[in-house]
Amino acid sequence: MSRIYIEDLANHVGEEITLHGWLYNKRSSGKIKFLVMRDGTGLVQGVLAKGQVSDDVFGKFDELTQESSFSMTGKTRAEKRAPGGYELDIRDIRVISISEEYPITPKEHGVEFLMDRRHLWLRSSRQHAVLRIRHEIIRSIREFFDNRGFVLLDAPIFTPASCEGTSTLFETEYFDLGKAFLTQSGQLYGEAGAMALGKVYVFGPTFRAEKSKTRRHLTEFWMVEPEVAFNDLNDNMELAEEFLEHIVQSVLKNRQKELETLERNTSFLEKVKRPLPRISYDDAVAILKKRGHNFEWGNDFGGADETVISEDFDRPVMVHRYPAKVKAFYMKRDPENNDLALALDVLAPEGYGEIIGGSQREDNLDLLLSRLREHELPEEAFSWYLDLRRYGSVPHSGFGLGIERTVSWICGLDHVRETIPFPRMIYRLTP
Ligand code: 4AD
Ligand code: MG
Repeated sequence: MSRIYIEDLANHVGEEITLHGWLYNKRSSGKIKFLVMRDGTGLVQGVLAKGQVSDDVFGKFDELTQESSFSMTGKTRAEKRAPGGYELDIRDIRVISISEEYPITPKEHGVEFLMDRRHLWLRSSRQHAVLRIRHEIIRSIREFFDNRGFVLLDAPIFTPASCEGTSTLFETEYFDLGKAFLTQSGQLYGEAGAMALGKVYVFGPTFRAEKSKTRRHLTEFWMVEPEVAFNDLNDNMELAEEFLEHIVQSVLKNRQKELETLERNTSFLEKVKRPLPRISYDDAVAILKKRGHNFEWGNDFGGADETVISEDFDRPVMVHRYPAKVKAFYMKRDPENNDLALALDVLAPEGYGEIIGGSQREDNLDLLLSRLREHELPEEAFSWYLDLRRYGSVPHSGFGLGIERTVSWICGLDHVRETIPFPRMIYRLTP
């Protein structure tokens, strides 16, 4: 395919080329008219000069409306003042489809208006920047694990049981087999994978029937979950900090232009380098108390608590050893204190809250069985999972990173809804 895109213009200066795209903007100054085309890779200004082209071609300027599709042919020229640094002296224009009056105009629109038109909103420069950064984050995640010998393990989406508590399960009828649940996390399958392949990562969509309308919650989101046999909590923290450094430094290196479009102040991002600070749950509670917050030991942190804790640090902070009773059934207890779980949460700076949740896993069959009972989970549905403790159980650990919260933090957005092409929230199922 020899199609030329706007991002490749530097390689075609002085050549006559044809570009295909949509009309982003147009303006005229007397005998010269400018058509700004977007093709998904950038913007370029086409210049139409009266007398230099046929009247027919010149007349296309009036015909083209915002978002009309067309192609333009002409010679490219470097032009410092033009957006993107190049211009095209138009010789010919071919109209492909004239757009009806486009609902999204350069004026300010409300978020709900834009969300209702999300399929069109994706055409704007700001959304391009967010989606390209999202892509870079996902690319760098795969690169990180692939370069370290992890095997990608795809977990099922229909599952027979819950992983992260029964209060946020989406259920559906499953033929004659009764109820199935949309996966909340691929972790349990990741553990089977780690016992088979040593180190794996699960990467896929996950679902939570979150009744909360916060800037951090979606009902459908993407999670990446490494799981490693023989890793303890400490190894898990080392993996998490190396992983976060890799993601953030990759975005800084490869998506500078997009960060600029978003006017992101990158000074906090530049500091995301190993080692990251590590504090215990107890230390975190002490921070809350020091800041005058009324917090009772034993509770889980809410979004507001996480913000206060993370404000003590200029980088992501790793919080370990939470009270077991606020954490999931599969977490191993701290041998030094049975009330604590060997859990790990990573809180992002600048008030973005939890981006990673993980732990060392309970590897003792009897203890795991009693945890299932305490949590009133159906033993039958977990029998395959218990097998992992029956046949060569080993210490192992892993964590899950939420993609949308990570995108939101790195882009400096104020809500996760702009971090995924088509967000699903308690009150939104369309488009
Ligand atoms: O802390 P969570 O619930 O951990 C797990 O699901 C573990 N099974 C992961 C593991 O150890 N393999 O979720 C992990 C991360 C959170 O830190 C957060 O970033 C994201 O998933 N997350 C959400 N993101 C958007 N909307 C929601 N409703 C989310 N719930 C969790
Ligand atoms: Mg969590």
